[in-house]
Amino acid sequence: MKAEFRATMPALVSVFFLLVVSCTTDVFALKWNLFRHKVPGPLDFEISYKTYYFDQKIDHFGFLEDGTFKQRYLVAAQHWQKDGGPILFYTGNEGDIAWFCNNTGFMWDVAEELGAMLVFAEHRYYGESMPFGAESYSDAKHLNYLSSEQALADFAVLIKCLKASWPGAQTSAVIAVGGSYGGMLAAWFRMKYPHVVAGALAASAPIWQFPDMVPCGVFYKIVSDDFARSGVNCNANIRGSWNAIDKLSSTDEGLQWLSREFSLCAPLTKGDGLKSWLQETWVNLAMVDYPYKANFLQPLPAWPIKVVCQHLQFSPEVSERQLLHGIAQAAKVYYNYTGDASCLNISQSATGNLGMMGWFYQACTEMVMPMCSDGVQDMFEPQEWNFQAFSDECYAMFGVRPRADWAEVVYGGKDITSYSNIIFSNGGLDPWSGGGVTRNLSDSLVAVWIPDGAHHLDLRYNNEYDPRSVLDARLQEVTIIKQWIKQSAAQGKV
Ligand SMILES: *[C@@H]1O[C@H](CO)[C@@H](O)[C@H](O)[C@H]1NC(C)=O
Ligand SMILES: *[C@@H]1O[C@H](CO)[C@@H](O)[C@H](O)[C@H]1NC(C)=O
Ligand SMILES: *[C@@H]1O[C@H](CO)[C@@H](O)[C@H](O)[C@H]1NC(C)=O
Ligand SMILES: *[C@@H]1O[C@H](CO)[C@@H](O)[C@H](O)[C@H]1NC(C)=O
Repeated sequence: MKAEFRATMPALVSVFFLLVVSCTTDVFALKWNLFRHKVPGPLDFEISYKTYYFDQKIDHFGFLEDGTFKQRYLVAAQHWQKDGGPILFYTGNEGDIAWFCNNTGFMWDVAEELGAMLVFAEHRYYGESMPFGAESYSDAKHLNYLSSEQALADFAVLIKCLKASWPGAQTSAVIAVGGSYGGMLAAWFRMKYPHVVAGALAASAPIWQFPDMVPCGVFYKIVSDDFARSGVNCNANIRGSWNAIDKLSSTDEGLQWLSREFSLCAPLTKGDGLKSWLQETWVNLAMVDYPYKANFLQPLPAWPIKVVCQHLQFSPEVSERQLLHGIAQAAKVYYNYTGDASCLNISQSATGNLGMMGWFYQACTEMVMPMCSDGVQDMFEPQEWNFQAFSDECYAMFGVRPRADWAEVVYGGKDITSYSNIIFSNGGLDPWSGGGVTRNLSDSLVAVWIPDGAHHLDLRYNNEYDPRSVLDARLQEVTIIKQWIKQSAAQGKV
């Protein structure tokens, strides 16, 4: 996995001619992007792709709503070997597809070695792929077509069209690749459409973070373990901070002190908002605890939790104000690493290009992921999982109620051994690994475990600071993907 770092400049020229061809007449290329990708050290290369829009049915499963919308997808064919070269197909998740394209360096790194075409397909209701334009989020009626099943059908229809109309693609094996919810989609895509995809790399895909599949406390426990291992007293001091915030926020003077100490944009009126914002901050840090300087959710230093914990090394015996001074310094590692923040806004948790409203809606319908904390196994305030309360919140917000066991009914829950050709990779630092598949289920349902990896580290660009375990993981993944491509060709199932 070293040969991948090459300037793609010569390839760009030929790509320009290849792209004259499009999927069908309702597909048209609008833009094309080229930028230099910078990683620390000597690796520095260019990636380029072309943007297309595909007329996709708003509703694949009923016949009354017959309208279409423009689904965005990105194609990079500069390394593709026509007539047989595979298609690596990124099953877009809850956000702007260009952002996932930028952050899935693995695909760019292996494209040449595999002779693969890269396709990044945007998930409906995110980025530019809005079924009802600006109205898409206006009410439950317009949101009604936001579901994982519709998204998978979009992917299947798009691939059918691409293979039928892109010269040389007819015999290409398609491999689904995705991270996080995109990883769940990649796995489910292989399960539901095995005639369309030869296999799936599902990175950090918590397909078991659903009711009654894993203990609800596992997520916050992993977050806490990350802080515990990153510095002395680190998780203990965070655990102590909740009471300290309660105490201080019981007086006006305390609230003012907190607002100043955390450099808040707007004065605090009670402590609750501060607590949930901090909780989210620690969770986000656990997801992006990467071994090098990175900018996924926020610009952050290498091993950001270690840096955070440097502000929290004192004995838990200190005064409340000393403790919270440390907590404020620690939070600023996340929100002000660049030094550009003039104040901190607790209404924002800085999750970059993720479409949070869409994800809330999905969580409030199919993606019911129970979470709880007990303050003993983890460093958070005790909080039970209460489905009824969750359902009521969903109803208040969207006018819909979640279906707790639908994901199990439709995707098989823990009973998935009848499926095949899926790699489930997980990182030991990633809280989502608690809901992931971390043991081999059969010869072709393979678990790849990356002990020092955070959220889908394996899908990121190769980096000189990558730990050995992620290099091994990528090597194993590529080896298996090559087997799938071979298998697919041998079966003539192409
Ligand atoms: C992708 O990366 C390029 C180059 O760093 C940047 O200009 C562009 O804004 C990024 N796009 C997104 C959506 O993050
Ligand atoms: C962010 O960091 C800069 C540089 O250290 C500092 O001047 C600024 O006050 C910090 N902002 C906040 C909100 O703490
Ligand atoms: C804080 O963030 C919220 C939500 O994005 C925004 O509406 C508000 O204007 C922000 N406040 C300040 C002071 O920046
Ligand atoms: C799964 O099996 C592969 C061999 O096919 C092995 O390399 C890997 O370590 C196993 N994974 C786990 C989590 O046991």
